[in-house]
Amino acid sequence: MEYKAFAKYYDLFYQKKDYKKEVDFLENFINEKDVILDVGCGTGVHASILGEKHEIDGLDLNKEMLKIAKKRINGTLYNQDILDININKKYDVIISMFAVINHLNNTNELVKAFQNLKDLLKPNGVIIIDLHNPQASGSKIDKYDGLERTMTWNYDNIKRIEYSDITFKINDVIYHDQHVFKIFTINEMKECAKKVGLSVIGVYANYDITKKGTKESKNLQFIIK
Ligand SMILES: C[S@@+](CC[C@H](N)C(=O)[O-])C[C@H]1O[C@@H](n2cnc3c(N)ncnc32)[C@H](O)[C@@H]1O
Repeated sequence: MEYKAFAKYYDLFYQKKDYKKEVDFLENFINEKDVILDVGCGTGVHASILGEKHEIDGLDLNKEMLKIAKKRINGTLYNQDILDININKKYDVIISMFAVINHLNNTNELVKAFQNLKDLLKPNGVIIIDLHNPQASGSKIDKYDGLERTMTWNYDNIKRIEYSDITFKINDVIYHDQHVFKIFTINEMKECAKKVGLSVIGVYANYDITKKGTKESKNLQFIIK
């Protein structure tokens, strides 16, 4: 039931996420006139900041997330699956932020996603993919204004899959959500990109142009052409 239970609380629980820092990182690879597609745009926070300077469209599988994004994004919003994209427009920059690609199940799907993104790219365009890269299992509780979220995540280091269970308590009503994240290695990203004629030209960590991404980084940003 990914995100359906809590689309309307997503921004509340990620209010401390440093979107500004992430967008500043993205801007290193974007020219002012570039037309951007945000794949897995969610509630559209990156897109709304980027939209102040650039033309930007969004795509997401989840209608509830898009309903919220619609209030923030002027561009076109596509309710589509990254594995089955049907858009008749080309982009200079395609971004995919915060674990969208980790929702794919295996490298076959990753190759398919790369092919779909490549098909949307203008010549000389760039794809920026932000991956979750967990190092361990854990749990935490967040509380905001009477709302409570309990998250437990178990990382299977052999299968390279992270299983998360999320419980929300909202006005004394309990909602459950689950995520299964496939954790792709830097090498898998490079090999799968290569299969469709794309090339990983940079790997960064923590949205910092001076930090090279490694297998120990908590998150990884791939620059792909
Ligand atoms: C963790 S959220 C990130 C949202 C947003 N990019 C952000 O940084 O806040 C992951 C998003 O990916 C979307 N998503 C998951 N699988 C997808 C797929 N196969 N195609 C398109 N969107 C997908 C989900 O609906 C969700 O909105």
